Amino acid sequence: EEWQEQGAAVTARRETDGSGQPQTRIVKKGVKDFNFGRTLGEGSYSTVLAATDRQTLKEYAIKVLDKRHIIKEKKVKYVNIERDTLNRLTEHPGIVRLYYTFQDERSLYFVLDLASGGELLGVLKKMGSFDIECTRFYGAEILDSVAYMHSRGVIHRDLKPENVLLDHEMHVKITDFGTAKILPDPQKSGIGSQEAPGDLTDGADTERAVSFVGTAEYVSPELLRDKNACKASDLWAFGCIIYQLLAGRPPFKAANEYLTFQKILALDYTFPDGFPEVARDLVERLLVLEPSNRLPVEHIKSHQFFDGVQWSKSLWRQKAPRLK
Ligand code: ADE
Repeated sequence: EEWQEQGAAVTARRETDGSGQPQTRIVKKGVKDFNFGRTLGEGSYSTVLAATDRQTLKEYAIKVLDKRHIIKEKKVKYVNIERDTLNRLTEHPGIVRLYYTFQDERSLYFVLDLASGGELLGVLKKMGSFDIECTRFYGAEILDSVAYMHSRGVIHRDLKPENVLLDHEMHVKITDFGTAKILPDPQKSGIGSQEAPGDLTDGADTERAVSFVGTAEYVSPELLRDKNACKASDLWAFGCIIYQLLAGRPPFKAANEYLTFQKILALDYTFPDGFPEVARDLVERLLVLEPSNRLPVEHIKSHQFFDGVQWSKSLWRQKAPRLK
């Protein structure tokens, strides 16, 4: 079997064996331990269902992946990437946490944080656009999460408002690490943490670089030009998201993917009237063709647009602003 079980996915149950002595057995969580509820989302290889742990009554989102379909379509590697990256990103409130994995004959199961507020895209569409205060708040939570994943050596590579979920208190939970990249450990390999040369150079990754340009609007110019993604590629996408929250539409949008790519490569976008000047300055420092000339995370955090934001823990303890 090519599927690996997750060692941490265990729970202890105290039982007696008839001798009167309590026995502690380690029991892995399985399908039987959950009550499954409504469908939260559907992808090409998976369905996400709401579920409740029968013992603790804690609610989760369980991603159910069809093993036959994944093998047939040669996506095993990406399922493993998703599990491996999520297992690396357990210490941050802004990233959907993976609690358990298990399988039965037909399916793989990923037990995840439930983000009951749905996608940021859905909320944005309902509102049309966000004001500067809401954009600052959601932008800050997204950036703090991206900074954490980069510090753990993970590039997301498909950041977009559909992949930014919201929990019951409207705090950010980033999801969908199926196209992420784990950078080699800089200590071990001698490669600097800013860039990983050779990223996306093996055959399978090149194939994916093409196939995961499903979200044309947020793709970075370096990915289109060199099929090469780096940490700064996530910051390009972040610039597109900040623009979209304020403008109500992404900066690069055309009738089809090809024309969208042409616009991206030509940096062909404009700001709508009334776009706040300080946000315009930030976006112009992120939507820069050369990745090494984009503002790095620490400079984004100290940009005037984020003035007044309490970075780190207090951001996540703050009450989310009322949408307007
Ligand atoms: N849709 C996809 N993943 C989800 C999650 N973790 N919570 C809620 N809805 C989702």
